[in-house]
Amino acid sequence: MRILSGLQPTGRLHLGNYFGMMQPALQLQHQGEALYFIADYHSLTSLHDAAVLRENVRNLAIDFLACGLDPEKAIFFRQSSVPEHTELAWILSCVTPMPMLENCTSFKDKVAHGFVPNHGLFAYPVLMAADILIYDSDLVPVGKDQKQHLEVTRDIASKMNATFGEGTLKVPKPMIREATAIVPGLDGQKMSKSYGNIIGLFEEEAALKKKIMRIVTDATPVEAPKPTEGSLILQMYRLVTTDEEYNALVADFQKGGAGYGDFKKRLFEKTWAFFAEAREKREAILSQKGYVEDVLHQGAAKARAYAQQTLSRVRLAVGLD
Ligand code: ADP
Ligand code: TRP
Repeated sequence: MRILSGLQPTGRLHLGNYFGMMQPALQLQHQGEALYFIADYHSLTSLHDAAVLRENVRNLAIDFLACGLDPEKAIFFRQSSVPEHTELAWILSCVTPMPMLENCTSFKDKVAHGFVPNHGLFAYPVLMAADILIYDSDLVPVGKDQKQHLEVTRDIASKMNATFGEGTLKVPKPMIREATAIVPGLDGQKMSKSYGNIIGLFEEEAALKKKIMRIVTDATPVEAPKPTEGSLILQMYRLVTTDEEYNALVADFQKGGAGYGDFKKRLFEKTWAFFAEAREKREAILSQKGYVEDVLHQGAAKARAYAQQTLSRVRLAVGLD
């Protein structure tokens, strides 16, 4: 089984990225052949600063490895090291109906949040389809916000097969965990860099505490039982604790007699502890000069060999060879 996913290097990772995409991806690296990449071509749709892009790529690589990506198990690489993605994207563009892209909500949503509507941003689902289809991927672990892009990918693959012959491309399956499909941010909207409501994975201790203290709550008095339905504290607590610990906090919510400040302190402690191992690993990676570059270099060579096989098949099917 081939598993594939990508993350854009547009800023530091947050809890939404971790629980929506990285945790499932990390679990899956033991269950098949996983390919995970840094989607730097994608980030060019909105990031136009060479130094920042380089810095983001490096940080993303370090952070993903620190969280447990095992380069012995998964192929980890930078998208632009495999330029075949863009050639396949062009071929796919030529069978992609305009309305399919016009219907994509992420483009409209990004433009509504101030992104410049350039052609790359509009065509981005086609590049994403190429990323997936070029590896004959079976499974694509992503957060819920990427679901529509996976439907587009499946539609484009089917269109290619109908046009150029069955078997030209493999139609992949999405994998979205309903439990953590959308991680809420400090304000209750989806946690996202664009909304300024994120909790980073590698925040300093004091900064993390300060952020958690900012989580929006209601005005229930200290002595009264607190509503559990819709509580952001509980939703986040569930992600970083066992069922038993979670149930204990639910019981304390229902009992009353403690304020939201106390609950937030407990959430802070569990969140800090949850990432302790990753923080240590991060330090170890930073002390090994050249390690990250080597991992990405070796990953790119393996990925490129796979990508070239698929592209040869497609070039033949469409008549370019
Ligand atoms: P952002 O919204 O902060 O720009 P990205 O769009 O770069 O995040 O998302 C990268 C990956 O993380 C995607 O697979 C996406 O589905 C997942 N993801 C991002 N935010 C969340 C969230 N709040 N809940 C669940 N998954 C998320
Ligand atoms: N579009 C994804 C995001 O914004 C990143 C991405 C690019 C991706 N190509 C992909 C994810 C292929 C999964 C598979 O998060």
